[in-house]
Amino acid sequence: MKTIIEPFRIKVVEPIRFTERAERERLIAAAGYNPFRLHADDVLIDLLTDSGTAAMSARQWAGVMEGDESYAGARSFFRFESSVRRIFGYKHVIPTHQGRAAERLLCNALVRPGQIVPGNTHFDTTRANIEASGAVALDLPVAEASDLDSDFPFKGNVDLAALEETLARHGREKIPFVLMTVTNNSRGGQPVSHENLRAARQLAERFSIPLFIDCARFAENAWFVKQREPGYAEKSPFEIARELFSLADGAVMSMKKDAFGNIGGVIALEDDAWAEKVRTNLILTEGFPTYGGLAGRDLEALAIGLEEILDEDYLRYRIASTAYVGRHLTEAGVPVLKPYGGHAIYVDGRRFCAHLRDEQFPGWSLSVAMYTELGVRACEIGNVMFGHPDPDTGVWSWPDLDLVRLAIPRRVYTQSHMDYLVEGMAELYARRETIRGLRFRERPAVLPHFTATFEPV
Ligand SMILES: Cc1ncc(COP(=O)(O)O)c(C=O)c1O
Repeated sequence: MKTIIEPFRIKVVEPIRFTERAERERLIAAAGYNPFRLHADDVLIDLLTDSGTAAMSARQWAGVMEGDESYAGARSFFRFESSVRRIFGYKHVIPTHQGRAAERLLCNALVRPGQIVPGNTHFDTTRANIEASGAVALDLPVAEASDLDSDFPFKGNVDLAALEETLARHGREKIPFVLMTVTNNSRGGQPVSHENLRAARQLAERFSIPLFIDCARFAENAWFVKQREPGYAEKSPFEIARELFSLADGAVMSMKKDAFGNIGGVIALEDDAWAEKVRTNLILTEGFPTYGGLAGRDLEALAIGLEEILDEDYLRYRIASTAYVGRHLTEAGVPVLKPYGGHAIYVDGRRFCAHLRDEQFPGWSLSVAMYTELGVRACEIGNVMFGHPDPDTGVWSWPDLDLVRLAIPRRVYTQSHMDYLVEGMAELYARRETIRGLRFRERPAVLPHFTATFEPV
C-alpha cells in the first residue's frame, strides 16, 4: 500500500471555532496585526508552532495520574531520568520547565562576556540567551541552506570550513562550546547529517572545545538520516538517535517538541563540574534538581513521550504528512522551501508577496493575511524576527530568508484540515497582490516578534 495513515485513532476531541472574515479583520487589528497577540479561541487551525501543542497519548494521560508530586526525590523524576538516559546516554539529567531555561542554564554555566558560540543556526531563544550572557551567537549554515530551491538533503548542516576557521581564529579561550541544532528550525526544519555532525565534533575536539546539541527535534532528524544518509537505512531511529548523542558532550532540549510534551525541557551532560554549576543555578531559578520547575505529572508525560517518539510508524507518518502539505502547496504554485521540513512547511514570504519591499515585511504581512482570509495562524521567521537597525546608522539589515512557517502540531490535525489549508493558500496566492504591507507601531528591542504591534502601510 502506498497510502500512509495516522498510526492512531482519536479518542478525545476538542471543538474549533469558525469565524467570519469581517470578525477576523477586527480581531487582528485589535491584536496590533500580530498573530501572537490573538486569542487562540479565535483561530481555526493553529500552525503558529509545533511547540507544546501535541496531542498526548492515552498512555501519557495515564502517566499524568501516576505523577508523584513529592518535592524531592519523586518517583516521577527517576522515571524521567531513566527515559532520557536510555536515549541520550549522558550521566547527568536535569529537568527544566522548557527549552529556553535549559539554554539559559547552559549559558550561565559556560559562557562569559566577549565569547563566541558558533553553530549551524541558533534558534531565536538560544541566540537571545547567548547574547544575554554578553557573547556573540554565530550562525554558520551551509551555503545550500540559503537556496530555497536546492534539493540538498542536509540543509541543516554547519559549514565545516567556516567552523574550522572560526575555531582556529578564536580558540578555546573565546569559544565555550559549539552548538548544533537538530533539526535546524530557523533554516526550515532541515536535518543535520551524522557525517557533518561527526566532522564538527572532530574539529571541536581538535581545539579542545565541547560540542552540545539543541535536540528539540532529534527524532525527526533521526528519520531523515535513516531515509537520506548512506549507511543508515537498516538502523532503527533509536540506534540513530543514540549515535547522535554519542557525538556530543551534552544536549539541551525543549521537550515540547519531540517528547510530545505540553511543557518541559531538559539539560543532559556528562561533565560533573558543569552539572554542578547548572544544578546550583537551577535551584536558584527553576526548582529542586529532581523537578526543575515541572510537576511530577509533567515528568511522567515526558518520560512516556520519549518512549513513543522514536516509533517508526509514527515517524513515517509524521514526515510524510508534513511533506503532503508541501507537495500540494508546490503543485498549487505556492513558493515553499525544499526539501520539505520535518515539523513545518516554510513559505517564501518574499516570493509570495513580491509586490512588498523588505521594510513592509512580506512574510509577516502574509501571515496576517492568512489569518484574515483563512482563520489560520502561522509564524513569520524572517524580517520581523531577525531584521534589525544598525545602532549607529539606523539602516536596517534583513535576513537572507523571509519565511512563514506552517508548523504542524504532533498528532493534532487530520488530512482534511491540511486540505483546507492548501486550498485556502492556493486561493490566496492567486490574489496575492491584494495583501497589504505593514510597518512597526511598537517594536520591543528583544525578541520583537512576540509582542510588537504593527499598522498597515
Ligand atoms: C530548536 C529550538 N530550540 C529551542 C527552543 C526553545 O524551547 P522552548 O520554547 O521550550 O523554550 C525551540 C522552541 O521553539 C526550538 O525550536
